[in-house]
Amino acid sequence: MILLRTIAEAREHSAAARKRGLTIGLVPTMGALHAGHGALMRRAREEAGSVIATIFVNPTQFDRPDDFEKYPRDLQADLAFCESFGVDAVFAPSADEMYSETLTSIEVTGISSRLEGEFRPGHFRGVATVVAKLFNIIPADRAYFGEKDAQQLAVIKKMVADLNIPVIIVPVPTVRELDGLAMSSRNQRLTPADRRIAPAVYQALCEAERLVRSGTRSSSAAIEGGLAVVKQNPMLRIEYLEVVDPTTFQPVDVVISEARIVAAAWLGGVRLIDNLFVSVR
Ligand code: PAJ
Repeated sequence: MILLRTIAEAREHSAAARKRGLTIGLVPTMGALHAGHGALMRRAREEAGSVIATIFVNPTQFDRPDDFEKYPRDLQADLAFCESFGVDAVFAPSADEMYSETLTSIEVTGISSRLEGEFRPGHFRGVATVVAKLFNIIPADRAYFGEKDAQQLAVIKKMVADLNIPVIIVPVPTVRELDGLAMSSRNQRLTPADRRIAPAVYQALCEAERLVRSGTRSSSAAIEGGLAVVKQNPMLRIEYLEVVDPTTFQPVDVVISEARIVAAAWLGGVRLIDNLFVSVR
């Protein structure tokens, strides 16, 4: 496995893979890798001739400086993790390499303005910009993103469609701990007591989903059921629990076909997000 530190090295590596006739599968990450990232790498390994993972804690997508500072970083462990999943190369640039004097950014309006975009101003501008830069540095055939961050996935899909970026976006299902908690790099920062409470976010989503599946079509009734689960855990401070259109992320009042139930909550100093897809067809 090769470690690429500069944009020039990443371009050179990609060009060589292309020259050998290999398709490129790209797995963008911010490191602190866990089995969720592993699922993306495994899928990329199955589908692409050359797998490139990126590890870059992207400063422009953090809305709070303390979250950026406390974001877990362990490059050596991450490199060993990538190697164990058969990744061919890791692109891990410095912030200066990625952003020296950058004045340009990408904003996917609409989808970016609600939910995560509302509670984390500028977040999706940072995400869309860094992902577009990665696509320009590494001409991937396919790029892998987790459904765990469903709104991010929708923003990236729309950006790729709108800007005619020649890459196929492959969604990968959320990987969970045994108790249902969605795996996340930030889970490392939960205290042991909070770690026991954390699955309540997933349980709330499951209750809302159960109500929809069992015939409740009104989003507000499903949300109420989910919120009742959250309220059993006073330490959990919910930011939103909504039923939304899976493409636009606009709220839906009545579930008639497909929807995504999305939630964000604070637990101690850690912000948790999760979602479930529901189809009533
Ligand atoms: P990061 O949080 O490191 O996540 C990298 C990728 O792993 C994302 O596509 C995310 O959705 C996916 N992922 C995280 N947890 C997962 C889980 N439990 N199951 C399945 N997939 C999971 O998301 C980012 O980094 C950044 O915003 C990035 C896209 C790299 C841009 O900086």
